[in-house]
Order: sequence, then C-alpha cells, then structure tokens
Amino acid sequence: MIAKTESPEADGPLYPAYFPLYDPLEKVEEVGRFEHDEPGHRADPAKPHLLKGATNVFDISPHCGTEIHGVEIAELSQEGLDEMALLCAERGCLVFRNQKFVDIGFEAQKKIASHFGPLHKHGWMPHPQGGPVEFVIVYDSKDDLRIRKSWARKSPIQFHVDQSPEAQPPGLTFFAMLESPPGAGGDTIISHMGRAFERLSPSFRKRLEGLRAIHTTANPIMREIRDNGNLAVLRRPITKSTHPVVTVHPVTKQKALFVNSSYTQSIVGWDEEESEYLLKFLFDHINRGQDFCCRVRYEPGTVVVWDQRVTQHSQTLDYAPGARRHAFRLTPLANVPIPSMVEEDDGECAKDEGRMMLNLC
Ligand SMILES: [Fe+2]
Repeated sequence: MIAKTESPEADGPLYPAYFPLYDPLEKVEEVGRFEHDEPGHRADPAKPHLLKGATNVFDISPHCGTEIHGVEIAELSQEGLDEMALLCAERGCLVFRNQKFVDIGFEAQKKIASHFGPLHKHGWMPHPQGGPVEFVIVYDSKDDLRIRKSWARKSPIQFHVDQSPEAQPPGLTFFAMLESPPGAGGDTIISHMGRAFERLSPSFRKRLEGLRAIHTTANPIMREIRDNGNLAVLRRPITKSTHPVVTVHPVTKQKALFVNSSYTQSIVGWDEEESEYLLKFLFDHINRGQDFCCRVRYEPGTVVVWDQRVTQHSQTLDYAPGARRHAFRLTPLANVPIPSMVEEDDGECAKDEGRMMLNLC
C-alpha cells in the first residue's frame, strides 16, 4: 500500500490516508498484562545485521542520539531489529533519513513496530481516518488547530515519557515524519535520563533509589475535555500506575530517572509539599539538561526511534502557526519498570568525575 497521494490537492496533506480522526464516541480496550520478550537480549553487540549497509553512522551529541545513513528500517531482518533495540537502548535514540518505512502502509508498519511489543492504543490522540487505532497521528495545520489550542496557555516544552502511566510503559517507539514545516522548526528534543541520573551527586542518587511515584493520565484528559468540550476524545478511562523513581534498563542495566512532568503526580508516602519540592527539582534538572540531550531536525521520511526507558522528549512548537506538520507514532509496550535499588559501597562517589578532582566528594 502506498499511502502518499499521487496528485495532492494544492493545499491538502501529502498523506491523506493518515489524516486524523477525532471520534468522541469511540472506545478502545487497553492491552492488559503481557509477558514482555525483550528484543535487545537477543542482539549481537556488534550489530552486524543493523549496520552492514550503513554508509555513515555518527553521534548527534555525546550522551544521546545516533544518526544512521544507508539503512532502511523496512528492510531489516529480525536480527537487525533486535540490534536496533540494543543500539537504541545504548544511545537513547536513533535517527534514520528518507525512509521507505513511511510508504509501506499501515499493516507493514504495524508488523515492524510489533516486533518490540504489543502496540499501545491511545486514549485521546487521533488515529488515521479508516486506519488502525494503534497509530497516533500528530497533525498541526491551518485546517486543524487542536495542537495549537492545547498548548495556547502552557509552554510547549514539556519533557515526558509517552504514556508512562501504563502498567507496562513503552520501550522502543517509532516517530515517522510525513510532512514537516517548510524551512526550520518542529524539532524534537530528546534527553537521556541515564545521564540525567548520573549527573546528580552520589548521595542524592542513593536517596532517590527505592522511591516510588504515581503516574496518571488525569491531567491530559482534563485538558482534552477543557479544550474540546463535547468533541473531546475519551477512548479510555484514566490510567494510573505506581513506578520506581529510578529504573534499570532490562538489557543495558543502566539506571535512569523515571519521573516526568506530564504524568508523574506525587512521590508515594511523602507529604504533598515534600513531593512537589522533589519533583520540581527533578523536572527543572531535566529541563536544564542541555548537555545530555540532542535535537532532531526532521525532513519528510525521517524516522526517529527512541527508548522511553532511558529518554524523555519534548516537542518544539516554534514554526509558523498554520504550517503543516504531519507525523505518526507507533508505541510498543515493554516491561514492568525495574526498580533501581541502593547498592552497598558501589564506589560511585570515588568515580564521580569533577568532584573527585576537586576533592569535593
Ligand atoms: Fe511524546
């Protein structure tokens, strides 16, 4: 199936099959509990199946993001997809350009994404008209200003994990750009939560390990109702889960901060003021993390994959209002978050760069 139109209307979307549907009466079932089979465990650490055709591979920033040229996601073998999971876990996100993946149609796209886990069904974001409910459509255009409206009185810079309130939140996630605004704008900023955690002082890190936090979709659902009234899309009830504040990646074993300003509500067992104080510090720490994030600029056909267990991301709504930005997301669910526990005398203090040199540890 080729979803791209042969002769687009002068002003219409290039991919009309991916036009968003907002149905206020639609309902979807949650995926429910499942046994997660982590593809990264099966991967060859040298990644020969992923990188054999690569013409250029380079890091976008030291701590987050690698761009890969010459590799078609749509042509990867099962082994290549396993290796993609491992490299994505190691680097946080991977960027592929000019991908056939955007043109292979709904079912083939779903099949590739499903390699990484059962696909999430979103509670309020649109899916394609006549297309599967597992697709999330991002469509910002002069003929659809819902996204602009939802951010009208709030900073659009909001680092988050997509759907962290799920009992088994997403792992590797696909974001595919169909049309991007002319010129610059509409980048995604992706920030590495492993590095965000490492940047904290050793004793502070130990205080965070073992804590748990409540994640809920209540606030975004309330915003959907506020912005769209009777036309609000409410496919699922509020989702709520309790997750560790610091998690461990199932393959790399890297520890990562797992609280985000979109969905994390409070620290379990702490008074409201204490909880707000800590979460505000952590959200500010993530927002300031210019030295552990990367910024991805899009072109039509760019596909970005990120591992939500070690990253958070934010949109940038910096392009001209009315310019069209059209993308889709497929969001495989993964493991129950693994809590990071305090290790006895793990030598972290001695290893801490900078502090050791300054004898401040
Ligand atoms: Fe997101």
